Amino acid sequence: MRSEPRVIVVANRLPVTRGRGEDRAWDVSPGGLVTALMPTVRERRGAWVGWPGSAERGIRPFSHEGVSIRPVTLGDAEIRDYYHGFSNRTLWPLYHDAIRTPEFQRHWWRAYLEVNRRFARAAANTARGRDIVWVQDFHLQLVPGMLRELRPDLRIGFFLHIPFPPEELFAWLPWREEILRGLCGADVVGFQTAGDAQNFSRLARRFLDLDGTDTELHVGRRKVRVGAFPISIDFSEFDQIAARPETLARAKEIRKRLGGRKVILCVDRLDYTKGIDLRLATVEQMLDRGELDPARTVLVQVAVPSRETVQEYADLRTTVEQAVGRINGEYSQVGRVAVHYFRRNLSREELVAHYRAADVMMVTPLRDGMNLVAKEFCASRPDLGGVLVLSEFAGASRQLRRALLVNPRDIDGTATTLREALAMRRGDGRQRMAILRMMVRRHDVHVWAHEFLEALA
Ligand code: ADP
Ligand code: G6P
Repeated sequence: MRSEPRVIVVANRLPVTRGRGEDRAWDVSPGGLVTALMPTVRERRGAWVGWPGSAERGIRPFSHEGVSIRPVTLGDAEIRDYYHGFSNRTLWPLYHDAIRTPEFQRHWWRAYLEVNRRFARAAANTARGRDIVWVQDFHLQLVPGMLRELRPDLRIGFFLHIPFPPEELFAWLPWREEILRGLCGADVVGFQTAGDAQNFSRLARRFLDLDGTDTELHVGRRKVRVGAFPISIDFSEFDQIAARPETLARAKEIRKRLGGRKVILCVDRLDYTKGIDLRLATVEQMLDRGELDPARTVLVQVAVPSRETVQEYADLRTTVEQAVGRINGEYSQVGRVAVHYFRRNLSREELVAHYRAADVMMVTPLRDGMNLVAKEFCASRPDLGGVLVLSEFAGASRQLRRALLVNPRDIDGTATTLREALAMRRGDGRQRMAILRMMVRRHDVHVWAHEFLEALA
């Protein structure tokens, strides 16, 4: 019997980062994508092609926990133009409903082309015949097409972790045909939701003049499958950490330190797509109107720093920190802070303890491909406690139907729902949480990887 083909993952970031210790050893990076793909790559004796995350040069390929690591190095100018520029200032805002105005710069595009070519070459040199190459996310949309030219013998998959925009926005992109052609180099192009998949197939038919349907495009003699493969988390990992006695003890301690008040928790990357500023505005309005009592309720915002050299991110940080300062100036007392704000990364254990300590989890992005925090919260509540308030504009809202759904731009509506969440009867909350957990358990990240690879096989 022939063995299963190897899986080569190609992603902007490697699954390992340099540790801070003196030996600067490589540690596995935290995060959904890595947890999702590492076991598959290891089982399939595969490799991971990616950027180490700094301008460090000359890092040789190495092996980490059974996975072959193939670093693609970038210089300072490439990091500026390809990563901060085209990826984070053109594509990221454009694909997220243009929440910030995307910038179009030809030299950023040229760097994107060049770096995509380097990733495609690295993938072509790593893959042997029959291997499956699985390209990830918006940084590398040209790689499938470039790789197919270099290696027509390979099976190539592409998965986009962020939304794919509708025509009214995508058409802004001066290089829209090139991007669509790049993606059409894959055999399977996967998206988070059916809506994203439909946006893509319609745009490919319109701008590339292709025949096909919403789920299959005809590209020359090849057929490209297009579909939704909603990403998920390792349910059992969160579930198990949440059930440990030390997690429970820590959750109790957190609640005690917050003065035994009702806890509203928010956990996000510090990104303008996450709706942190509007959420704070909602809470501020509720405090101003006396709809929220700071003696009985506390907001905890944990925000992990992100892409700080990009101006929009620095501006957002200022806005958020000013709002927290203003609210606390008005509503805090000695020993009783109204809004706790932590700008830092939490360990997995500490994160789960926070999830377990929450009465209400607010996940209210203005636009989000999926949002794994919402799923992690459900997986971390084996006690069936906690109420999830979730934005309609997160891909996760398509699956987590028993959350309390909100439109985060509707401040009054969100405030009403938050009050409802805080006042929810225990039985109602438990019933909702049981259904949410069943959904995340059944569609965990292992199922996601398996379904995508099956479609590609
Ligand atoms: P995005 O991919 O846009 O950052 P997601 O919600 O899909 O948003 O994924 C974010 C990931 O980062 C989750 O796995 C979450 O646990 C993690 N994360 C977010 N904020 C923190 C934090 N402050 N500390 C630790 N992990 C965090
Ligand atoms: C989102 C993207 C990922 C990206 C992550 C962190 O989840 O979909 O591709 O890795 O944000 O952003 P960063 O720019 O730090 O890699």
